[in-house]
Amino acid sequence: MNVLVTGGAGYIGSHTCVELLTSGYEVTVIDNLCNSNPKSLARVEELTGKTVKFYKGDVRDEALLRRIFSENRICGVIHFAGLKAVGESVAMPHTYYDNNLNTTLALTKVMAEVGVKNLIFSSSATVYTADNEMPLRETSRTGNCTNPYGWTKFMTEQILSGIAHADNRWSVVLLRYFNPIGAHESGRIGEDPRGIPNNLMPYITQVAVGRREYLSVYGNDYDTHDGTGVRDYIHVVDLAKGHVAAVKYALENTGCEVFNLGTGTGYSVLDMVKAFNDANALEVPYRITERRPGDIATCYADPTKSAQLLGWKAEKNLTDMCRDSWNWQRSNPNGYGE
Ligand code: NAD
Ligand code: UFG
Repeated sequence: MNVLVTGGAGYIGSHTCVELLTSGYEVTVIDNLCNSNPKSLARVEELTGKTVKFYKGDVRDEALLRRIFSENRICGVIHFAGLKAVGESVAMPHTYYDNNLNTTLALTKVMAEVGVKNLIFSSSATVYTADNEMPLRETSRTGNCTNPYGWTKFMTEQILSGIAHADNRWSVVLLRYFNPIGAHESGRIGEDPRGIPNNLMPYITQVAVGRREYLSVYGNDYDTHDGTGVRDYIHVVDLAKGHVAAVKYALENTGCEVFNLGTGTGYSVLDMVKAFNDANALEVPYRITERRPGDIATCYADPTKSAQLLGWKAEKNLTDMCRDSWNWQRSNPNGYGE
């Protein structure tokens, strides 16, 4: 069975390609490489000994999508393609709404035309409102997003649930990711952010490898056990396996279901620094700085529904995440740029 993976050359996409291929699926990728390097797919092939059929292009290009569906017997689509930098989305709202909404609209239009109606979408824990009780359940309140990126995820969820509601042959799975970190244990694929990293773990690894001087810890006066922000970090390989479970679910069901993909455990920024140092026998320098606007104190998942309906649970621990993040960065100090 052939799965079309949009954005498959990216961080989560490349790890998902590995898990799909090792689970016996064929994989076709469309990616315009606006935030990735085709070397990731060459390494997916090297790791699995299987081929990935790659189309370089934009998911908004309906003619290209039609060609892909006509040249391959696609059974379902995992839709990762999108822009994901929160700060950039505030500066460039039109770019974010155009890319993140029009990719989904073009994709679902062509999928409906060709009669492929199984779709897995990359949503985010950012769709939950900041005033929810923890842990977050799929039924927790959503909306009130604080930036255009978050709104694109919220709106895409609305669009896809509407499509599934209107035509009961659709099977839509909305996956709300918590904080993916780590890398394939081989160190051959991993996260390769352009410019200064926005996210905690790539920043820590770039300090450790000597590309940055120190980590800024954004605030230590939150209402958490040590005052620093608490998040639900999940190993990207566990997340990738969640997508394989979601494909199986989508092929066997119809309708629209939403699932949290998290571990259910929250760690603070200082917990993460300590775990990284302990796992890798390093000492990452840090300084406490001002809070980052828009951050919340605490965010972690209740992953019960995913365990019950997808039969999926995160298996890797914090030491695995810290070791694999460092293994990737150490063996690729400049990412895929070498
Ligand atoms: P990524 O940037 O590494 O991967 C996204 C890929 O999509 C890139 O390879 C990029 O080149 C491609 N792309 C973007 N726009 C495209 C377009 N119009 N046409 C074709 N290709 C396009 O990001 P990632 O971390 O792998 O995230 C994948 C998805 O998961 C995104 O939708 C992101 O918003 C979502 N997500 C990520 C996180 C996270 O923390 N990494 C958290 C929640 C949700
Ligand atoms: N942090 C620092 N220093 C840094 C970077 C981050 O102290 O240099 C702190 C943040 O303040 C926060 C924690 O580390 O407390 C995690 O921050 P990230 O930027 O790694 O992750 P966020 O939880 O802020 O955001 C991530 C994704 C978003 C997504 C959100 C919810 O980046 O795209 O999870 O899914 F919307």
